Amino acid sequence: MSTAAPALPPLHRLPVTPAQPPHPTTLPDGTPAWLVTRYHDVRQTLTDPRFTRGDLATVGTPGGGADVSSNPASMFNQDGPEHRRLRSTVQRAFTARAIAGWQPWVAEGVQQAVDALAAGGTPADLVTAFTRPVPFAVTSRLMGLDGDGPDRLDEQRLRRWTRAILADGTPADGGDATDGALDPAEALAEYAAYTGELIARRRHHPGEDLVSRLVQAADQDGDVPEESLVYLVCGLTASGNESVTGALGNALVYLLGERPEDWPRLADPDTTERVTERLLHFIPLGDDEATTRRATEPVDLGGVHIPAGAVLAVSLGSANRDAAVFPDGLDAGLDHPLPAPTLAFSAGPHYCLGAWRMRLEMRESLRRLATALPGLRLTTPVDRLTWQLGTTTRSPAQLPVTW
Ligand code: HEM
Repeated sequence: MSTAAPALPPLHRLPVTPAQPPHPTTLPDGTPAWLVTRYHDVRQTLTDPRFTRGDLATVGTPGGGADVSSNPASMFNQDGPEHRRLRSTVQRAFTARAIAGWQPWVAEGVQQAVDALAAGGTPADLVTAFTRPVPFAVTSRLMGLDGDGPDRLDEQRLRRWTRAILADGTPADGGDATDGALDPAEALAEYAAYTGELIARRRHHPGEDLVSRLVQAADQDGDVPEESLVYLVCGLTASGNESVTGALGNALVYLLGERPEDWPRLADPDTTERVTERLLHFIPLGDDEATTRRATEPVDLGGVHIPAGAVLAVSLGSANRDAAVFPDGLDAGLDHPLPAPTLAFSAGPHYCLGAWRMRLEMRESLRRLATALPGLRLTTPVDRLTWQLGTTTRSPAQLPVTW
């Protein structure tokens, strides 16, 4: 992950293709496709079983795209019974009871970071002191990587692996010295080896952590390929962690940069709940918010005939800003409830498995930060912020603040 000169707009100000009927487009690798932008068309594409994902792993991006979206072992690239088997294994690990049990220590981890930040005094950088350590603490505890044994994961190692799994092929100029340089293929092999050994140890000595629960569920269900299980644990750890860092950082850019007068109101739990949903809905995680599907048979989509075999580029960003469904847009009341469910986490069989974690961590983070530091403000204007680049997500490299 590298940083770049400050020239990019913040993600909440990225232009999106306006909602309109499906129409032909060309993907960055030259593949012809149909661009789907309206809320109801996007929802249909994501939920209708005639649209699948399976053979699209390397279609769309020059060079095949980031490993997390192009690796065939990723559950994101599976369809039908194989995908359902893996999903149901994860559902068995993510029971409502398990999630409720994780809630108190997520809140505790957030509070510890808030207390350390406040105690450190000003000036401070929210990326180093908050948006990185909070998700890392949650990830380590959730996956059981915070002990003293061979499973212990340090933040630098995880960042190196994250950079490899999410690398989007764009130049990572300069780099961040703390990341440590390593060939991406080597880093991925190292990560898979670590995770394979971790799974083997949890199989013999299970604990209360999510890796143990996943292994137990997979072994009870039988026929979950080991490679898929390894890739699932890799993804939940690295890209899950990075998504939370990115979403928190980008939300703080918007809140502190454009809504400073609203910041102290976030101390109220009901307000934070609604604000969280709005922020996750309107602020993308990266510069490219499209996902792809293939039509397995001819389909009428929003009055347009999509032929069998066609590729569809599905724009979640356009759908979430479709004025026919969300007439208010981002700049309305910060805690206005959304008039329809967000598509930020997709819909249908590939609905994001980390949505619960993202909502929980965002809500706790905003409420606890605003309670402890109601006067929190940026000391660098938004148009002078630098960004972490080179992966599928984009987030501020630093967030200099005072209070
Ligand atoms: C703001 C943060 C996040 C956003 C916007 C997001 C968005 C998405 C979207 C749009 C998809 C489905 C793509 C498609 O249907 O083509 C997805 C799938 C997935 N997400 Fe997330 N995600 C976020 C955070 C997380 C976190 C924190 C985790 C893990 C802890 C996670 C784990 C997953 C997994 C495993 C899948 C694949 C599910 C499947 O294919 O069945 N995500 N995410």
